[in-house]
Formats: sequence, C-alpha cells, structure tokens
Amino acid sequence: PIARVDALAKATGAHTYPSDVVRQGMLWVQVLRAPHPHAHIRAIDAAAAQTLPGVVCILTAKDVPGENRFGLLVRDQPVLCDQVVRYQGDALAIVAAETDEIARRARELIRVEYEPLPLVTDPEQALWPDAPRLHPQGNLCAELQLGRGDIVAGFAAADYVFEREYRTGRQEHAFLEPEAGAAYYDDEGALTLCVGGQNPFNDRQQVANALGVPEDHIRVLNPMMGGAFGGKEDISVQIYLALVTYHTKRPCRLRLDREESLRVGVKRHPFQVRYKTGVRQDGAVTACEVTILADAGAYTTLSPAVLALAANHCCGPYNFPHTKITARAVFTNNSNASAFRGFGNPQVVVGLEQQMDMMGRAVGLDPVAFRRRNAIRQGQPAGAGFTVTGTVTLPRVLDSVQQSELWQRREQFKQTASPWKKRGLGLAAIWQPFGLGAGIEPGAHTRIELQPNGRYLVHLSSPDLGGGSVTACLQLAAHELHSAVEDFDVVMGDSRSPNAGSSNASRTTFVVGAAVMEAAARLREAILAAARRLNLGGEPQLQGSQIQAGDRAVPLAELAAELGPLAAAGFFKPARPEPFSFGMPYAFGFSAQLALVEVDTLTGEIEVLKLENHLDVGRAINPQGVEGQSEGGMAQGLGYALYEDTLMQDGRVQNERLSTYVIPSIRDVPAEVKTILIQEPEPLSPHGGRGVGEIGLSATAGAIGNALFDALGVRFERLPVTPEMVLDALEQKGA
Ligand code: MOS
Repeated sequence: PIARVDALAKATGAHTYPSDVVRQGMLWVQVLRAPHPHAHIRAIDAAAAQTLPGVVCILTAKDVPGENRFGLLVRDQPVLCDQVVRYQGDALAIVAAETDEIARRARELIRVEYEPLPLVTDPEQALWPDAPRLHPQGNLCAELQLGRGDIVAGFAAADYVFEREYRTGRQEHAFLEPEAGAAYYDDEGALTLCVGGQNPFNDRQQVANALGVPEDHIRVLNPMMGGAFGGKEDISVQIYLALVTYHTKRPCRLRLDREESLRVGVKRHPFQVRYKTGVRQDGAVTACEVTILADAGAYTTLSPAVLALAANHCCGPYNFPHTKITARAVFTNNSNASAFRGFGNPQVVVGLEQQMDMMGRAVGLDPVAFRRRNAIRQGQPAGAGFTVTGTVTLPRVLDSVQQSELWQRREQFKQTASPWKKRGLGLAAIWQPFGLGAGIEPGAHTRIELQPNGRYLVHLSSPDLGGGSVTACLQLAAHELHSAVEDFDVVMGDSRSPNAGSSNASRTTFVVGAAVMEAAARLREAILAAARRLNLGGEPQLQGSQIQAGDRAVPLAELAAELGPLAAAGFFKPARPEPFSFGMPYAFGFSAQLALVEVDTLTGEIEVLKLENHLDVGRAINPQGVEGQSEGGMAQGLGYALYEDTLMQDGRVQNERLSTYVIPSIRDVPAEVKTILIQEPEPLSPHGGRGVGEIGLSATAGAIGNALFDALGVRFERLPVTPEMVLDALEQKGA
C-alpha cells in the first residue's frame, strides 16, 4: 500500500485540472442548447448576437467542416443541429467571446424558430407502432435475445416461482469536475485539446472526423481530471472547443456549469427489469427469465454495449440451468444514457439479488447458504449462454461473509433501543467483469524510456480518472525495475503516446498495468545488457536508481548518458478464451456486500449503519487504492439505492442542481464502511490483479434492498427508496 502519486498535488490544490488550463488570449465558449426536447428547427438568426462587442465568432451547423455527427458506436448525434433537436442537450450554436459574460449574453441574443414535435418519454410507448420516430429506423436502439436450456421445463421443475418488476433510477455521475477543457495550437501546430476524457484516441478520432482533417492534425491530452465514472467516455466539450480554435486560431476554454452538466450530460440508463425465477424445495434454482427495457435517451452512445453487459450478467454468478433473456434499449426524448460505473450490472443486480433473497427465504436457507448452494463453477455455462472460463471465487467471498462479526452477531446488531425503529441486514453477491469483452478488448501498448537524467519516463495514454490507475501502473513498473514510483516521470493521457486504449471497463490496471510490466522488464534487460558492455567490474544489477556491479554502485543519473538512449515497448492483451464467443467477458471480480440499515417507521427515514464489502479483486496492487475504490463505490451505490434519480418531466430535467439532485454526503455514508480483501490471483492477469474500478458500486443497492425487507417485511421494487415510499408501504401493510 502506498499513497497515490497525485495525492499531494490534489490535496494542496497545485494540480492543474482540465478546467484550470489557461493560455494567453483565451476565448470563452458557451453552447446554445435546445429548450425543446423534440422540435424541428425552422431558422437560426445570430445577427444580433454577432454585433455584440467582444463576440469573436458564432458557429452553427454550416461551420462544421467535416461530418456533422459523432458517437462512439454509431455516429448519430449532430455536433450542431440544423434540422431537428431530439433532447434537451442538443446543441445548435457555439459562441466564443473575449469574456464569459459576453459569451453568455450573446447566446441569449441568438433567435431560433422551432416547431415543437410530439415527445416520446416513456420507454414502453417508444416501441408502440404509432410512436413518433426519433430516428429513421425507429426507436429500437438495441436488442438481444440470450439464454439456454428450456425455460418452460425450468419453471415446471420449480416448487416456487417469483415474478416481479424492478425499476431503477437515472443516476448522474456527479463528478467533482464537470465536463471541461481547453483547445489551442501547440508549438508544432497541432490543434490540441486538453480535456476530461477516458480515451484520447477515441476523442481524437471523433474530433478529426467532425473537422474533416487527418487524425494526426489533432492532439488530445487527458490529464488527471476530477472524476469520470463512465460519464466522460462520450464526446462532451471536445468538438465545440476544437471548432472554435480551428475557426479563430485562438485558444479557448469551456467548462459546463453544474446545471448544464446535470441537464445535458449522459446518465445511467434507467431500467425496467422483469424477473421470473424458480427454485426447488431442495434449494436448487431452476429457471430465470429476464426482460430488460432500458431508456437510452436520444442517441446511441454506448447503449448497445451497456445493454449487452446487463444481459450477459443478469442471471448472476449462479447456475440457472434454464434461462431466457430479452433485452431492449429504446430511444426517447429523455437524457442521453451511456456508461456509468458498473455498466448495466447495478441495474440488474437490484432485481436479481432480491429474487435470490425471496427464493432463499422460501426454501429455508440463509442468504449465504442459498448463494453457496447455487454458485456457478468455472467451466460451466452462464445464464446468458457463454462458458465461464475465468476463475470463480464466489465461494471464498461467501466464506469471508460467514466469518465476519457482522454476519455472526447479526441478531444482536439488529436490536434497537426504540420500538419505532426497525433494523435489517441484507446481503447481495455479484460478479463484475473486467476488461472489454472478448474480441472487443484491443489490448494496451506502452513504452518506458531511460532519460538522460537517469529517471524513467512512462507513456500511459489511458488517463487516470481519479481512481489511482497511474499509481498502480507505476508500482508494477517499479517492481520490474527494482526501483520506486518516485523514480518515474509520466506522460499521461496523450494521443501521441502508444495507444493503451480506454480507461473504462475496470481494465486500466489489469491491461495497461500488464503492458507496463512487460515494457519495464524489457527495459531492465536492455539496461543490464548496456551496463555489461561498460565493464563495470562484475555482473551488473539494478537496485533502486543505481547499478551495482562488484563492489561499485553507480547512480543511473551518472550512467544514463553512457548507457545510451534506452527504451522498451510493452503490449498486453488477454489470451483468447476457449470456447470463444464474441463479447463474452474474460473474467470477473467477485463481491458480497452486507448492509445494516435502520428505518424510522414514524418518518420513513432510512439510515445505513454499516456497509461491508467482501471483495476479491485478485492480487491487490495497491491495497490502499483498492479500499478507496471499494468505499467510493459503496457510497455511490448507497446514493443509487436511496437518493439519486434525475427526474424528467416532458423530456426536461427537473432537478438540475446538486441541491435537488441529492448525492450522499459524509452524514449519509456510515461511519463503518469496511472492505475485506480476499486476494486470489487471477491466472489470466500477469500480475494477478482483477479490475476494481466498478465492482464496489454494483452490489450495494441490492444489499440495501434486502436489508429493508429484513427490517420491514416490504419489498421495494423501485429505486431510489425514499422516506415517502417507506411510509406508503408501511401504511399499505397496515403497520
Ligand atoms: Mo466505464 S462505466 O466502462 O467508464
């Protein structure tokens, strides 16, 4: 465990975030968005705005020199709309001015004539034949049918069948730093973007396409940013900034206001998930039928991928012999939904883990025993049909739960002093894949150099979103070079570095870390080979930042020039799993979370008293960082369970401030948040580590749901569970 390399600069405020980038003569940028969530554009008149002193340019669709479209999977979102707007975030014009105030005033002076169109805001109605179409092909964004066995036979074999529909909220990433960045021409004449993002190469490709220039005319930098959580995978400010600098040749900056970020930024997909599950009296699960309907919002973004992950994992790490999975994502005029920590898994866990709770209770097995009884094994097919080739450590994770004090003394912990307060303990157990799917994961390239001053320089093009991946990668490199993280300089998030791929899918430390290890091992051998040629008097060895040979120890700083320019590349891509199916997950992390809740039955208030995460992320490269990811994930999962939902009315966000979109504060997160690490090295991973970025969040809402049932005898089928819902439920129950 070590302190993160970015800790001091962030704690002291010295770190330069994308929104802090300042250049001489910068322009301020503002974006005009549609007030209507669905409308034809009749005319845009910027004449009055244009004459305002201090306005430098106003750009509309005709000023997009390349393709006026972007999107990671399907380029279906206009950069600047000139015909139709499809959601509240759609952009029509960009204003660049000498001051922010002038840019905002000019934006108000732009006149747009709209012809409002009928709205589609209900995902079910989006598929009705007479629903207004958002796109020429209709409103179906993505669809999947998966499963195995014979679902009818599976339910026929069951002694108990439970069927329920769950609905989950439109969670907002609420990163500390909203979407932000700057654009300028660098010393070599490249149009450079310094922005919050998760993959400089993806950003570069989309910017170049919109500008109609070769990719190497664009350089994208993703320095350490104030969080992303999946919400910075898609283009946000990048193309607007690039267009302004392209047209004016001047540097510019844009940081979305918090209100703008909440109104136009991507969200977690709200899901309606119908679960029908069957179990035999002897405790064996027999069948799982799942129907998923996801609200994708107006454009494709990453919806098909999120839907696929949800469908692949919705039967959980359990051995259901008969399954049927139908998943759809549909276009609506609501907020765009895309990637968010967990990537479709948190939505299905909420339903599945409550079904598991019901089934366990029906057959008289406790939650740990019931999950152990049905745990999937390596080599078996998952509910979605693919073979589980990675290791399965769910039983070990459940052992850890069983040995915990919270589990063993649960009846004592559930006692309260006040008769109107009820306590309950809930368990949820999950798997979360890491790395992009098989056939999709591109692998990672890195490079390490020995600099003339004797320090190492590492290229890590996958940015550190705030999760600590750079520290972990440096630890792995330092291990191979027998040195310390302090001996390294880093070029991070630069599209001029070798391509290491995205920082997403809990892949960075797993894939990029492995590539860095390989580069470091090769560089070590290159340094030693060069040192041998210098005849230092003995077999040379690397130790710290010195080369030892015989009884001499020479600092690398003194030898670097003589050793010559030395560098080594590294590449890692997980081995192709057999049997192979496209998009299947390579491997999983496992987590079982316990939540102890207390409900005030007079006010309906819910307090989470304890959260415990029994977590196998394989070998923990930086245990302190892993704990941070686990705790942060649980806090965000607590918000998902109890507070967070972007409320929409007729396609308009109703709670567009952090005073009305409520995230957990220090008062809401329990004082006792524990992470118990089980470290079974993952064979697929050269360093033994599994991904940790997402897994902390995915189980929490399911565990809290089960704890609420334990406390009140009420199932909540909708997230977030508010005090009003608690009071209504208790009233209906006659309590
Ligand atoms: Mo992600 S939710 O794969 O950044």
